[in-house]
Amino acid sequence: MGMVEKVLCRILLLLLLLQCGIGWTQEAVSSPGFIESTCFSSIFWMKLDKSFLQKKFFNIEIIDPSGVPFLVDQMLGARCGYTLSKDVWGNPIFRASFLGCHVINEKDEKFSLTVNIKVSLFEDLRAATIYQHPMHCSYFSWAPREILCEENYMEVSVMTDIPRISEAETAEWMSALPEAQKVMYQMWKLMFYSPSGIRTTGVSDADKLGYSFNNTLARVFLRSPYSTSETENTVVNGVTMSTITSRSRYRQRWLLLLIDTTISCPVDGTSFTDASIIWTVPTIIPRLVLQESTFRSLNVSMGINGEKIENPEKFNYTLERNITHIGVTIPIGAPRGRLQSTVSNEVHGVTYSIDLLMEHSWTNTDWQLTKYIVIKPITTPFLPRIPTVINNTVPETRIFDVLLGVFLPDVSLVTLTIGDVTFSLKEAEQKGYRISDIPFPNGTRGFELEVPFDDPNVLKEYVNRNETRYHLRVIYTLIVGPEEKLYRHPADVECTMADIQLPEGIGYCDKKNIYLAVTIAGLFQYWSLYVGNTPLNQITARTNGYFIMTNDTHLVLQVPLFAPGMIYEEVSLERIQARFDLVLKKMVTLETLDTFSMRCNFHSSEFIVCYPNGTVTVLAHMKTVPSIDMGKTRLKDNICKPQDHTKDQALFRFQVSTCGTSVKFNDEHLIYENEISFEKETLPIQNPPIITRDPEYRLTILCYYPIKEILMQSAMFYGSSSRTLPYGSGTMMSWTNKKDLTRTRQVLNIQANMFKDESFTEAYKYHSLVIKYSWEPLFFEVELKDEAPNVELFLENCWMTQSEEISSIPQWNFIVDGCENKSYGSVIFSPVMTNDRIKHPNHFKRVRILNLTLPLTEVYLHCTATIGTCLHVPSGGLPCKSCPGKTFGQHSEIYANHHGYVVAGPISILQPEQIKELDTKRNKVGLGAEKDYKN
Ligand SMILES: *[C@@H]1O[C@H](CO)[C@@H](O)[C@H](O)[C@H]1NC(C)=O
Ligand SMILES: *[C@@H]1O[C@H](CO)[C@@H](O)[C@H](O)[C@H]1NC(C)=O
Ligand SMILES: *[C@@H]1O[C@H](CO)[C@@H](O)[C@H](O)[C@H]1NC(C)=O
Ligand SMILES: *[C@@H]1O[C@H](CO)[C@@H](O)[C@H](O)[C@H]1NC(C)=O
Ligand SMILES: *[C@@H]1O[C@H](CO)[C@@H](O)[C@H](O)[C@H]1NC(C)=O
Ligand SMILES: *[C@@H]1O[C@H](CO)[C@@H](O)[C@H](O)[C@H]1NC(C)=O
Repeated sequence: MGMVEKVLCRILLLLLLLQCGIGWTQEAVSSPGFIESTCFSSIFWMKLDKSFLQKKFFNIEIIDPSGVPFLVDQMLGARCGYTLSKDVWGNPIFRASFLGCHVINEKDEKFSLTVNIKVSLFEDLRAATIYQHPMHCSYFSWAPREILCEENYMEVSVMTDIPRISEAETAEWMSALPEAQKVMYQMWKLMFYSPSGIRTTGVSDADKLGYSFNNTLARVFLRSPYSTSETENTVVNGVTMSTITSRSRYRQRWLLLLIDTTISCPVDGTSFTDASIIWTVPTIIPRLVLQESTFRSLNVSMGINGEKIENPEKFNYTLERNITHIGVTIPIGAPRGRLQSTVSNEVHGVTYSIDLLMEHSWTNTDWQLTKYIVIKPITTPFLPRIPTVINNTVPETRIFDVLLGVFLPDVSLVTLTIGDVTFSLKEAEQKGYRISDIPFPNGTRGFELEVPFDDPNVLKEYVNRNETRYHLRVIYTLIVGPEEKLYRHPADVECTMADIQLPEGIGYCDKKNIYLAVTIAGLFQYWSLYVGNTPLNQITARTNGYFIMTNDTHLVLQVPLFAPGMIYEEVSLERIQARFDLVLKKMVTLETLDTFSMRCNFHSSEFIVCYPNGTVTVLAHMKTVPSIDMGKTRLKDNICKPQDHTKDQALFRFQVSTCGTSVKFNDEHLIYENEISFEKETLPIQNPPIITRDPEYRLTILCYYPIKEILMQSAMFYGSSSRTLPYGSGTMMSWTNKKDLTRTRQVLNIQANMFKDESFTEAYKYHSLVIKYSWEPLFFEVELKDEAPNVELFLENCWMTQSEEISSIPQWNFIVDGCENKSYGSVIFSPVMTNDRIKHPNHFKRVRILNLTLPLTEVYLHCTATIGTCLHVPSGGLPCKSCPGKTFGQHSEIYANHHGYVVAGPISILQPEQIKELDTKRNKVGLGAEKDYKN
């Protein structure tokens, strides 16, 4: 053949091949639509449509050239070069190497393989529909060495072109080739090099070891699973490579062919960040590149799902190559991969999968060109994606608007639990809840739920002054991902609205009452009304003498001027300014929200007001005929004059502990008694007596303070500084008739005095200031007046305070239940003997207090006392008592409901360091000071 023909022939051949290439690879085979196949490099790549096969059974058979079917299952991997897999969408994928079993190979250029897909509704496929799918591919660009790293096997094929000796002889060699191809492949020997040594096998023994070795017209190939006993795993630039080092040897007579059939494939190299998948493969694989100095990397490309990607950056994939690594970075969620929702340990999340492949071709002197293909399906580990609840509520609409997202389309909402009730979507819609599926432009979606504030499954709570807190609790139940896992997600949304109208109050007065009208809406639902600390209701109203009227809109409270709860702000001869406060409290917390107050001026000719602090104000009205000078009226202690008076009125103001006020208490009340009287004019002694025309005038004043409230208040003193005692109720009784004066006594008449020494003969004068050094003893005597001789006085409890008031705090007890308490000094009862002053010793009690240890400068001594009749009078007139107090009654008959109260003082106590200040003090006290001091 001349040069021209040879060239022509080559061109012809080329044309023919081009033609065939187009025809064969793209040939439209009349196969059903659910089967798609392509040729990728030296691989048949077939995809079956998942949706067609749904709920069906199928298998794949290969038809060998003689028409015999073989089930693919048994011919996978190294044996036949088949891979059965699924793409990320779940579509079954079948791949076959062009060098695989039953592939019809025409001159290493055209390849065809016919598959049968048997599909049936039943597991038994004997009656299945058979779809036959022939695949034809052509491939001319074989590189001298091609390596395929498949999912389930590694394959190397090497060109075995006999080296050309000269241009002229080529044709003869070529003509000898078919002959050579027929040489039994068994003539080959395989030598495996591993750390344990060299193993040489024949081809059929290699087959038993799991390898597949054969030759084609111009190539020799070796296929191997990933782990055989000859596999060596090494780490190259951080990537583990599975390597089988082998040489294939062909020897016949004078011909020795030795071919390097080493395979090396990466088995890992993937890593993940939150946002991307990174896959790296070493650029130079040492076992495949023996002389690194001559290595030249030519072309690197990547592909997805068997398709080459020409411009990876267009899809935000990156393909990078440097001297050590080839790296592919795929952002999680990038196109052609698949995000799937799933649930792991009750956490919602996703996984992302993508089927990558990489092709690298390089040259070096050992092999002019190597084409290296890696097929790598990658799935990320579980990536948590916690859904968020977005509160889109617009309060004015009074509808909760809640968005739960973001989800992939493979998540669906199945039930909603609102409050405690679970609804299917349909039931929820019927209940009036709106549920919408909100799609987002990026393909994700959210679920929007609308629930009215006033729905019975929304919790409502009255808060602050005028607000309602609406609380929506939802549990979403979702079905997630292809595995249809259940996932629950809670949402808790609150909205607080100022939608409550607080009650309003207005007040008015008439001559004797204050009225308060309060709007009634919500009143006994959220709030209650209080007078002081007492809730207002029909019972308390009746007890206090109020009157309550209600209509549809208002509650009207009528409070008489002298009813309990009235506050007297100013009391004078001219007017009484009184105020009444009605307090609005929250029902649950009793927090005060508002006070409705009404203040009015009243005129009254006669009244008594017993103030919480123990002040008593009395306006006495003259009722006698002939008239008396009201300015000359006095209280029991007649240094107590009217504060103000007119011709026929006198206004007194005094403390219950002064002006000779006596006190008693029973189980319910502390009762203070005083008397306003008019001293008849008496004429000088030297003149003969004349009858005055002044009439008898007596007005008994009584203040009743409810004891329970006093005790309650006292208890409160320890915890708080506010001290509001209740108002007492006062009554007045005038005694113009002489007979009435012999009335029965209401109050024990007892008196307390401080004495100068232990003889108890000279008492400090009434209203005088007593000054004592702290080391000097105090002599204290209590006297019972106006009682029968056989009655005995008993001290119950005595205490010291810094003030005159009965309830003043702190208190230091020196007599407890009739017994001496020595905590603050030495306390001793002193005997009482009959003398000029003392007719009935049992009407007296004396106490000596020594070494007072209290750091006080001014003390008052308070005592409560009772009376009784002694059954066994102890000798020496000592107190009829036996401690502790319980046995007290064994010796005496105590009149349980007769208690008296006295206070004595003040006594100025001088601490040693105060002696220098004494002069000043004495000067201030002036001549009234009773104490003579030494030095
Ligand atoms: C080797 O290839 C030939 C020709 O394709 C085939 O007939 C033979 O069965 C193959 N041997 C093995 C062990 O696969
Ligand atoms: C690539 O990334 C950019 C920025 O992150 C983004 O705006 C663009 O949509 C992405 N392109 C594709 C094809 O995903
Ligand atoms: C090459 O790239 C890899 C990963 O992409 C990197 O870890 C390595 O440091 C790079 N090597 C050089 C020499 O730049
Ligand atoms: C999709 O869009 C939603 C709403 O705009 C956004 O919250 C979400 O982050 C987006 N998801 C992705 C993967 O971009
Ligand atoms: C929901 O939104 C409303 C209206 O913007 C707001 O008043 C409320 O506090 C929000 N609730 C929660 C729990 O975020
Ligand atoms: C609720 O109370 C606030 C002040 O506490 C007030 O400004 C607002 O007007 C009130 N709203 C209603 C509806 O009463």
